Amino acid sequence: MLVVDDFADTVALYEALLSDDGHRVRTAASGSEALLRVDEREPELVLLDVSMPGMDGVEVLRRLRARRGGGPAVLMLTAARRDPIAIEAGLREGADAYLTKPIEGRELVARVRAALDTFRLKRIIETQRRDHIAMLVHDLRHPLSSLGLLAEVLQSEDLSSEEKTSAVATLRALCSDMARLVDGVLVASRLEAGLFTVEPRATTVRLVLAPTITVFSPIATRRKIALAFDGELDRPVFADAVKLRQAIDNLVANALKFTPRSGRVRVRVSSEAGAVKFEVSDSGPGVPTLERTSIFDRYAQGNRGRAAGGSGLGLAIARGIAEAHGGSIAVGESELGGARFSVTVPSP
Ligand SMILES: Nc1ncnc2c1ncn2[C@@H]1O[C@H](COP(=O)(O)OP(=O)(O)OP(=O)(O)O)[C@@H](O)[C@H]1O
Ligand SMILES: [Mg+2]
Repeated sequence: MLVVDDFADTVALYEALLSDDGHRVRTAASGSEALLRVDEREPELVLLDVSMPGMDGVEVLRRLRARRGGGPAVLMLTAARRDPIAIEAGLREGADAYLTKPIEGRELVARVRAALDTFRLKRIIETQRRDHIAMLVHDLRHPLSSLGLLAEVLQSEDLSSEEKTSAVATLRALCSDMARLVDGVLVASRLEAGLFTVEPRATTVRLVLAPTITVFSPIATRRKIALAFDGELDRPVFADAVKLRQAIDNLVANALKFTPRSGRVRVRVSSEAGAVKFEVSDSGPGVPTLERTSIFDRYAQGNRGRAAGGSGLGLAIARGIAEAHGGSIAVGESELGGARFSVTVPSP
């Protein structure tokens, strides 16, 4: 980290305190020297005095924030709380925190540690986000180039009608894969922004699940997986049928994806006190205990998920839908030997 102050005594004191706490500390006696040090090697954190002759702390901060990647974490130091204008300016320019001098040694050390932790966490999240975008782009790119090839194939004159039909079928499947992916990203970002809402109405479990059965039964058959729906299928439920179905579809899609051939997947509906519970159980490998909380995050995948493809959005969307209904989602072990996911929504 870098300690910047025009008072040599202050610099020496902070340097000693922070080195004792295990940090590697460099120092600068002015704003312009601070920028030189940062250019030599970018620190994780800058402890920056606001009032210095020449270039002041706020100007240094502004230039740090203009750096690629947003620059280091910055803790600003002011002589007293009586300078609200400088404080306001600093916060607007993106200071991570303000400390007032004189500051007790232990407080300084603690505040620096906290700021560093936050900074490192942000970096990690930022790299993960970039990885995910790269992955998403890759997932979209792949069907897109296949579509291009198919278009060429369809243009050639000497195509039998079976060949043509099969090319068109592939083309449509690719389009719907892409549409699903794009929809997933849209829903996930709407969830993130708090713009996702549901419109619950009186319906029945059977009406919610009918399309799920139609869509997934042939897929299960093809994979030689026994897919069963049972329980209180005629129970009335107060829910947004389209969205609730999407949540359950995501769970069923996962169950079918992760369960090996000749396995079993079961969707069971039951009543709990004032709520309906949809459980999707499978005979697949299950979800390792350590992954059971993280898999519900956007773009999060377990080891198995990464191997199987997909983008890690399905469960985040399912959770968002369950929560938008005032309900919840959970994962555990199933009596079939694999995973059991359940969505519970309140319903009289
Ligand atoms: N039935 C299941 N059995 C085992 N692991 C599962 C199951 N369902 C989900 N998982 C784990 O949870 C992770 C997250 O699931 P999620 O549905 O969010 O993403 P995905 O299926 O990998 O991708 P997407 O749904 O966006 O195509 C999966 O990658 C997998 O590791
Ligand atoms: Mg999924």
